[in-house]
Amino acid sequence: MRIAVLILLAVASAAAVAFGGVYALSEAKLRDVKRGPTFDFPIPTDAAAIERGRHIARTRGCFGCHGQGLEGKDFDEQWDWPARAVAPNLAAYARDNTPAIMEAAIRQGIGRDGKALVSMPSFNFARLTDEDTAALIAFLQSAPVVESKLPRPKLGWSVRLDFALGAETHMAQWADQVPPLRINEQEYPQRARGEYLAMTMCNECHGLDLRGATIYPPPTPDLAIVAAYQREDFETLIHTGVAAGGRKLGLMSLVAPDRYPALSDDEINALYAFLTSLAEEPAPEGAFWRPAQ
Ligand code: HEC
Ligand code: HEC
Repeated sequence: MRIAVLILLAVASAAAVAFGGVYALSEAKLRDVKRGPTFDFPIPTDAAAIERGRHIARTRGCFGCHGQGLEGKDFDEQWDWPARAVAPNLAAYARDNTPAIMEAAIRQGIGRDGKALVSMPSFNFARLTDEDTAALIAFLQSAPVVESKLPRPKLGWSVRLDFALGAETHMAQWADQVPPLRINEQEYPQRARGEYLAMTMCNECHGLDLRGATIYPPPTPDLAIVAAYQREDFETLIHTGVAAGGRKLGLMSLVAPDRYPALSDDEINALYAFLTSLAEEPAPEGAFWRPAQ
């Protein structure tokens, strides 16, 4: 009897140590973030800048994930990663947090609690200019707060274990890996503009360098594929998510109609000019989002 109790106690305390270890290690990993300089760019208040911020929020998918009224969203039903992802009410967040805290979340993948984010695709926004980031923040500060009741997010033990073991990459690490923009603006102004747009819109899913991603499902193609598109077919794809030849797509046909109808002709031309030029260059190898098969 006594022995059975002792064994039970030993097992229970071993389990407590193991869970405690996983918890502590995962917390340490999430706190291990490289922070950039504090954002002190002035936040504009004029109507044109706020409109510009709304355009950025629309074309970068803030509404799709944070709700069409920015009221926040519980991803419990849609995602099984992590235990429960909850995108916060962004208009309320913009009232409660400084622009520096918002910038760290948006471009660096670091939350207001100082820990790396795990679901918010900050790497897609890492290359937003200071001016566009400030316009985005100005828009969020001006957006009416739609009241909402959201559950608390949960990380879950299997996700914690992945972080503890270093098998998962958090958003501050992802954001840190985004390649710099490389097209020379003086030489190729339209292509450079297209690179900026693609590197702050399409690399959420098409790989940090836009050359395809296989690390998470669904796999996405190398955007050099755009070279096989006529300009009109590319516009149809971007506006509706229907591919050349009338093919219906999956995730792409969900995001395109939500985000990209707002793109101007100039923006679509710039994207097209840049993405078609990718076909002239080989895709770099050895990227972690495109591991060797
Ligand atoms: C793919 C869905 C998705 C998109 C797109 C997205 N977010 Fe998020 N966001 C989330 C989730 C989920 C969280 C909750 C934190 C987490 O799980 O990483 C979050 C958290 C945040 C936070 C709070 C971070 C914190 O905890 O302090 C801010 C601020 C934020 N997002 C701003 C934005 C802005 C601005 C945009 C558009 C430029 C945007 N998000 C686009 C899903 C998204
Ligand atoms: C939220 C994820 C996501 C974003 C953001 C995204 N895509 Fe996609 N895209 C996909 C997926 C996934 C596919 C593969 C087909 C599918 O499952 O929908 C795809 C397929 C494509 C294709 C191939 C179509 C074909 O002929 O088969 C093109 C071209 C494309 N995307 C262009 C873009 C461009 C340009 C952007 C940015 C303006 C972009 N995508 C942003 C997820 C995304």
